[in-house]
Amino acid sequence: MTVTVVVGAQWGDEGKGRVIDYLAERADMVIRFQGGDNAGHTVVNDQGRFALHLTPSGVFHPEAYCLLGPGTVVNMDALGEELDALRRAGVAARNVRVDYRAHLVLPYHRLLDGAAEEQRKREAGAEEPAEGEMGTTRRGIGPVYGDKHSYRGVRVGDIRYPDVLRQRLEALLPARNAQLAFYGLPPCSVEDLLALAEGWRTAYGDMIVDSLPVVRAAVQGGQRVLLEGQLGIGRCIDWGIYPYVTGSSPTAGGACVGAGIPPRAIDEVLGVVKAYSTSVGGGPFPTELHDETGDMLQEIGREFGATTGRIRRCGWFDGVAIRQASWLNGFTGIAVTKLDVLDTFATLRICTGYRLGDEVLDHVPDTVTQGLVEPVYEDWPGWRTDTTACRTWDALPPQAQAYLRRIEELARAPIRFVSVGPERSQMIVV
Ligand code: GDP
Ligand code: IMO
Ligand code: MG
Repeated sequence: MTVTVVVGAQWGDEGKGRVIDYLAERADMVIRFQGGDNAGHTVVNDQGRFALHLTPSGVFHPEAYCLLGPGTVVNMDALGEELDALRRAGVAARNVRVDYRAHLVLPYHRLLDGAAEEQRKREAGAEEPAEGEMGTTRRGIGPVYGDKHSYRGVRVGDIRYPDVLRQRLEALLPARNAQLAFYGLPPCSVEDLLALAEGWRTAYGDMIVDSLPVVRAAVQGGQRVLLEGQLGIGRCIDWGIYPYVTGSSPTAGGACVGAGIPPRAIDEVLGVVKAYSTSVGGGPFPTELHDETGDMLQEIGREFGATTGRIRRCGWFDGVAIRQASWLNGFTGIAVTKLDVLDTFATLRICTGYRLGDEVLDHVPDTVTQGLVEPVYEDWPGWRTDTTACRTWDALPPQAQAYLRRIEELARAPIRFVSVGPERSQMIVV
């Protein structure tokens, strides 16, 4: 298990942070390969409770080299604040580096993301996420990846060359300012952005690296490398519920590109699978529960966004979606999280198909159709036993074992870990 990719198998917030924190004890390197501070990865360990947005979740292990890889997008102020908060909590966070190829989230990206959200909200005439509303995290993710792909981005490494940066900003800003004006927002000035970049260069210049030789040496030297995915495949730019997606590919394939590791160097792909489903933001969600059961999952699971604090939508486990996730990522194993949240339910349901008229689909259809389907469920007996103190597979109630075995079957990959609580120790190695 030398190079392991850890990805979200659903719509995000599966518990990737806690799984990485657990695995990082035996890792030499942890790499975030996509996404930015839209992430909220919760880690609860002997050093405290943390919601990490940019810093790789291996940061609590001082020997682990923690990299924000080439495929990420970085708000340097948010990174600085996060590192300061970690240090105040006694975490040295000395081993954090940023690849120079990562794109910079600039103030206008966040402004444009927020303004577009506001406009969509007004158009939908609602205060809360409504039909057709995206519900992004407003961290500038769509705009910054949009700029990257239209060759109008600014990369982290550019702050090392103020003259080049000036030229670049002078060329880029008029179009961005026109967009800001469209939303009634004031323009950004080249001088202000250069001053900001200068501050980042002074404060974080030492953290900027060319990670390729470092990562290559680690992989070739047989070091243990963890690739930490952000979000889940349900909101993948290519395979998710477009347009209710994020700007990057939170998949094993995305990991190769975003970290700079060839596909053949990947040894393990661990899918992090929540024992039920949650989603935050807009878009279809076939197994969503709009009833008391949904409220129970939300309350017992404490399903609030780690970044935005929004209430997460909750539903039963979706076996159709997991099949797609497993194929596209090529899971070699899965980590099932939050089993304990189901401890009090008398009956649990697993979706095995999507009914569309007279037909039952066994695959994920297009976004519009996903909004029309009705889940086909099978019922599983609950165990109604506290599992939070279980530390072995055999200690789990038989009904919980049967439920997990069914998830394993649908995910077509063996269960390697089961978590029964948010703490580092609340992990069963299977
Ligand atoms: P991530 O974005 O995939 O890292 O997941 P989040 O941190 O956003 O959301 C997972 C939430 O569930 C966090 O509040 C975790 O502390 C919590 N959590 C993780 N694993 C477990 C578990 O096994 N049981 C319970 N009860 N909570 C868990
Ligand atoms: P972690 O890494 C859950 C959702 C947003 C929105 C959509 C696009 O903690 O699992 P974006 O800001 O990326 O443009 O928003 O994706 N989203 C997440 N949902 N967990 C996350 O991260 C998320 N990051 C973005 O709610 O629907
Ligand atoms: Mg999260």
